Amino acid sequence: MNQTVNDRWWKDSVIYQIYPRSFQDSNGDGIGDIPGIISRLDYLKDLGIDAIWICPVYRSPQDDCGYDISDYQDIDPMFGTLRDMDDLIREAKKRGIGIIMDLVLNHTSDEHPWFREARKSRDNPYHDYYVWRDGTKDVPPNDLKASFGGSAWEWAEEAGQYYFHQFSVKQPDLNWNNPMVRQEIYRMIRWWMERGVCGFRLDVIDQIAKEPDKKILANGPRLHEYLQEMTRETFSRGDLITVGEAWGADIESAKKFSSPDGKELSMVFQFWHTLADQQIGKTKWDLAPLNFRMLKDIMARWQEGLYREGWNSLFWNNHDLPRVVSHLGNDGPYRAESAKMLAMVLHGMQGTPYIYQGEEIGMTNAPYDIEDYRDIELLNAYRERIREGIPEDEVMRSIHAKGRDNARTPMQWDDSRCAGFTEGEPWIKVNPNYSEINVKAALADPDSVYYCYRKLIALRKEYPVFKDGSFTLLMPDSEDLFVYIRETDDEKMLVAANFFGREIKWDLPEEWKKGKILLHNYDDMKDGMLRPYEAFMTYLGER
Ligand code: GLC
Ligand code: CA
Repeated sequence: MNQTVNDRWWKDSVIYQIYPRSFQDSNGDGIGDIPGIISRLDYLKDLGIDAIWICPVYRSPQDDCGYDISDYQDIDPMFGTLRDMDDLIREAKKRGIGIIMDLVLNHTSDEHPWFREARKSRDNPYHDYYVWRDGTKDVPPNDLKASFGGSAWEWAEEAGQYYFHQFSVKQPDLNWNNPMVRQEIYRMIRWWMERGVCGFRLDVIDQIAKEPDKKILANGPRLHEYLQEMTRETFSRGDLITVGEAWGADIESAKKFSSPDGKELSMVFQFWHTLADQQIGKTKWDLAPLNFRMLKDIMARWQEGLYREGWNSLFWNNHDLPRVVSHLGNDGPYRAESAKMLAMVLHGMQGTPYIYQGEEIGMTNAPYDIEDYRDIELLNAYRERIREGIPEDEVMRSIHAKGRDNARTPMQWDDSRCAGFTEGEPWIKVNPNYSEINVKAALADPDSVYYCYRKLIALRKEYPVFKDGSFTLLMPDSEDLFVYIRETDDEKMLVAANFFGREIKWDLPEEWKKGKILLHNYDDMKDGMLRPYEAFMTYLGER
């Protein structure tokens, strides 16, 4: 496909991410579902988004909430049917919204028919679909660890071998070196393309080309070869958006992933900016105070690095990360101000913004007791850390700060029982603050976080500088302010934000005083200072 640098539809699009089990239940079983999503499409249309990335709804034993797929070409009954999915695609399209499916291609469920066969014996035709190594029952091939705890190797009695799993034991890794595996996957992708989806999000895509003997997990030597082959055989046959989740990407590899020549993916979804408050080289549970200058430096380097050479996803949170207003903002008295500030800082940048369900109303983390959590990663980490002798309150502090269930609590629609999410018992508790923080209240308040997001989406479509402008960070050494300029030949925009809860002295540079304020989270300007979490966007140009 022929494409030049800035002409692709998804470059001024905004994506909304739905975690289906927690979005809207339609039948009272306490689990969100596809008919529930359909019933909320008008809400999303009013917000102005262009596409929905929907986390996995395929058939799955739900060991990792759907990231363990047992049939890529069917919908889990918990979420509905294939016909519901077709309805969703059609109903969304009517409203100008595309559907992005979540493709988990690094691994399947151990209950996938391929794996059920594969584990039977070494001679089974499906055996080589997965990654096997010899060993004896108590001596695994090496000491590689799985992301969800324990060894990355699991003994399979029938085959008399170990299989490799980067995530849970119920998520065996696929063997991408096997061309038959790749062809099966491409066929499946084309089948979804024919159903009318507008794109795909590719789960842990940088990990597919692993070489476990060399302890290479991300960025294996054949990774880009596989991605290019996949794109040739699938995505390039449609005008799709493809977003690659890549924890292991650096700027150089991201340029390959998202090169404007379209050989691989539309954009990369990388996480460096989410790691500025953890101890370097340790796990996400090892908390450290936010290194604000590092955060700015990381974001600026990615902005500059991918300018004209790649394309970034802009996000603060998703289903694997804490709620941003709790993580980087203030979920107490300055909840609305800080949520808007964070939105402006992010949406002013170059890339495709992602809004995670509930972010647009400033939903917060959920400080639950351990019994109230459901996530496999969180529960395994709890057990492992308690076993390591870390005091319980410290373990819980990390979980409250970083646990994935913070983002997986039910969407807060109104102040009725269970926040309007379900008429039954929700699969995970509703955040008790729903009576105050909910969509109904947000829609009724012209000053709410919701309207800030709506405006940001509209601005991106109105002013080309959002899509095309270069990026320059001002005052990189400031410990409080996040200020940057975006610039094209005929437009200039400045985003200024006080990232913290104290007043900071600051003078708006002279030339910007005649700028047009596009958005501001306070009613007026105050000379010589930015108030707690104050942020605005101002514009110089012809429009
Ligand atoms: C990705 C998903 C996460 C899942 C993991 C394994 O990081 O976003 O939710 O647990 O991959 O598939
Ligand atoms: Ca349901």
